[in-house]
Amino acid sequence: MIVAIDGPAGSGKSTTAHAIAKRCNLKFLDTGAMYRSVTYKCLADGIDVNDEEAVSKVAEAARIDFGRSAEGQTVLIDGQEVTHQIRTPEVDRNVSVVAAYPRVRHAMVERQRELGYTGDVVAEGRDIGTVVFPNAEVKVFLTADAAARAHRRAVQREGGDAGQDASAKADAAEEQQILRDLVRRDKLDSSRKESPLKPAADAHLIDNSGLAPDEVVQKIVDLMDEARSKSQAPVPAEPEAPAAAKAQEAAPAKKPAPKGATGEKNKPGKMRAFAGNTFDDYYDHGMREFPLPARALYAVAAAIVTFVTKVLWPWKIEDARKLWDDDRGRVVVMNHTSMLDPVIVICSLYYHGKRVRAIAKSEFYTNTFVSWVFSRAGTIPIKRGTADLKAVRRAQAALKRGEVVLIFPEGTRIKSDDQPVTIHGGFSLMAQMAKAPVQPMAIVGARDITPRGTHWKRFGRVFCKAGDCIEFSDLGVKGRKQQAQRMEEVAMERVYALRDELRQEHPNKK
Ligand code: DC
Repeated sequence: MIVAIDGPAGSGKSTTAHAIAKRCNLKFLDTGAMYRSVTYKCLADGIDVNDEEAVSKVAEAARIDFGRSAEGQTVLIDGQEVTHQIRTPEVDRNVSVVAAYPRVRHAMVERQRELGYTGDVVAEGRDIGTVVFPNAEVKVFLTADAAARAHRRAVQREGGDAGQDASAKADAAEEQQILRDLVRRDKLDSSRKESPLKPAADAHLIDNSGLAPDEVVQKIVDLMDEARSKSQAPVPAEPEAPAAAKAQEAAPAKKPAPKGATGEKNKPGKMRAFAGNTFDDYYDHGMREFPLPARALYAVAAAIVTFVTKVLWPWKIEDARKLWDDDRGRVVVMNHTSMLDPVIVICSLYYHGKRVRAIAKSEFYTNTFVSWVFSRAGTIPIKRGTADLKAVRRAQAALKRGEVVLIFPEGTRIKSDDQPVTIHGGFSLMAQMAKAPVQPMAIVGARDITPRGTHWKRFGRVFCKAGDCIEFSDLGVKGRKQQAQRMEEVAMERVYALRDELRQEHPNKK
C-alpha cells in the first residue's frame, strides 16, 4: 500500500510517517530529505543555489539513498552520509529555492517513484499525492497553524519533543526566527510554478494543531483499513470485456496482486495535450492514452516510414498473422541486425491495431531530441548490465495493457556470424511478471543494408518470420527462476531456428 502524506514544513509529517512506517511495516520515504541533500551538496561544493543550471546538474547526477543506523534512517548522497548535515539552518534557508527548479524536481520524483515501486511505502513531502504517487491508496494533507509548527521545530532543535511533552519550552527569539522562516518557506513552496504545495483533490485534510501524535497516526491507520477493505470489495463486471479479459475469466480466481507491485497503481493521471508531459509520462502511460497530437504525429511518421522502407528495402513478414492473432500483450524477441528491424515490427503491428513498446538502451536517451522522439515512439529505456526494475515494471504494465514489448536480446546489432553475442535475459522476467507469452521472430537481409565497415546503404529485400508464442506453462519446468531461465533458452533457440529457416528459403540473405 502507498500512503502519501503532504503538508507544510513542521506540520508533523515526519513524526507521523515514521510512526506509521513502524506500526504498519512500511518503508518510510522522506522526500524532503532528498531536496535537502541536493541543497547540502550544492552548498558544500560552493555552487550558488541561484544558478539553476548548475544546481539542476547536481540533482541529475546525484545518487540519493536511504540507509539505517542505530539512531534510525540515514540519508546518503553519492555515498556520503549527510543525515545530520541536511538539517542545519543554512540548508533550511536555501532548500525551497532548490526544490522549485523543474529539473531538480523531475530528477527527485523519478528517484522517489523508483524507491516507491519496490514495495509498500509511506512517503511524505509536498507533492506526493498530487505528482509522485497520484494513485496512492491513502492521501493525507496534514496542517497545523504556523505558531504551533514553529514551536514544535524550536523545541525539536533544542532536543525536545513538543508532540510528546505539551509543556516543552524553547528560546522565544529562536522560535520567532523559525516562525518567520516557516512562513517564508510555506509561501515559496505553495506559490512555485512546479508542483506547488497543495492538497490532492482526494486527500483527507487533518489539522493536527490540537491532536496528539498518536491520534493523528490512528486516524491514518483507520484510513488505510478503509482503503484496504474498499480495494478488496468485488469489482463489478465490465459490460464489454475485451477478448483477452474474457479468455481469462475461464481461469481460476487469483489472489489480488500486492499493491504497488505492478506499477499500475502508481500510474500517473490522464495525459493532456500541451500540458508539459514529461518523458516519464510517455513511458508510463499506454500508447493509446498519449495526447492526440502525439498520436497523430505517430500515425504520420508510421505512414512515411512504412512507405519509404518498403520502397527501398521491400520487406515481408512470413506468418505475420501470428503476431496479431489475439489481444494479449506479448514479448517479441528477435535477432538484431539493423535499425530497420524495430521499424518493421512497429509499423506492421501498428496497422493491425497493436502498439509496440520497443526496449532501447538508455545510452540513446542522453540527447534530449532523441529522448523526445523515442518517448513519442513508445520506446522504454533500459539500463543494460543492471537489474533495471523500473524498465521491467514499465514493460510489465505495458504487457498488461495488451501492448507488445519488443526486445532484441542480443543487445547490439550483429553484423556478422563471427561477432560474439551475449544474450540479455531480462525479457523472460518481464513476460513472467506480466504472465505474458514470449514470441520469437527473426529477420534476414537487413544486415546487408549497411555491410560491416561501410556507411553506404544498399537496396534489397528483407524477410522476417514470426514464430508461435511460447507459454511459460508449456516449458515443462517448475519454479519461477527455472522457468525464466528455460524461457530464455527456448525463445532464443527458436529465434535462431527461424533465422536458419529464412536463410534456407533465401540463400543469398544473411
Ligand atoms: O519536509 P522538509 O522540511 O524536509 O522539506 C524540505 C524542503 O523541500 C521544503 O522547503 C519543501 C521541499 N520539498 C518539496 O518541494 N517537495 C517534497 N516532496 C518534499 C520537500
